[in-house]
Amino acid sequence: MTNLSIPVLTIDGPSGTGKGTLASSIAHQRNWNLLDSGALYRAFAFCAEQSGISPDNLDGIQNVGEKNTFTFRVQGSGIINIYVNNMDVSQIVRSEKNGVLASKYAAIPAVRKLLLAQQRECRQLPGLVADGRDMGTTVFPEAILKIFLTAAPEIRAERRYKQLKSKGFNVNLPELLTLIEERDRKDQNRSVAPLVPASDSISIDTSNLSINEIYRQVDGLLTTRLGC
Ligand code: DC
Repeated sequence: MTNLSIPVLTIDGPSGTGKGTLASSIAHQRNWNLLDSGALYRAFAFCAEQSGISPDNLDGIQNVGEKNTFTFRVQGSGIINIYVNNMDVSQIVRSEKNGVLASKYAAIPAVRKLLLAQQRECRQLPGLVADGRDMGTTVFPEAILKIFLTAAPEIRAERRYKQLKSKGFNVNLPELLTLIEERDRKDQNRSVAPLVPASDSISIDTSNLSINEIYRQVDGLLTTRLGC
């Protein structure tokens, strides 16, 4: 069986739309693999910054990609641990500051190229749920179902606020809203693999939906596409 025949569900959209929770719930329920592509960009950005490599230092960027490994591990409970080499950086890379940094490095074509093969390798039996910005447009263009989640910026900021607070970060809601809007603008306007819905994706506005309602909609669509 070629890798391309393994079904992939892609879930793209800006931060705070519920992508991560939805992706891990579907992967868990169906026993599918999960790709948190943002975790890889966050780990890469953290490592590059720690190594003193600025986004415009292309030789340095290449070096960072070749000399380090960026991985994540999904626990049964849905918690995702992120590693640079063998160092667990899960907590530190989840900060909004590191999210902004990830968005900056993610705009560099060389960085996207360095992380592409690793993302595609996650396509393993019995299936993959891939969460990110360009899963449906670039990484898995032949996915069986492509979902694009949206939500009002204020609602997204509030969700991120609660999420970050629960992880122990000291956050400020108005500041978070500004950072999230800036980050999304950057992700939407970059020249390579920008955050846009794939032409064959289904968009869902999650502003007024609970995670259970989003789950039911998307899981129902997936069941129909798979024919089971
Ligand atoms: O999903 P996240 O918030 O963890 O992602 C952090 C940043 O990483 C996001 O602002 C842009 C970048 N990213 C990307 O460019 N492409 C992806 N597929 C996933 C994330």
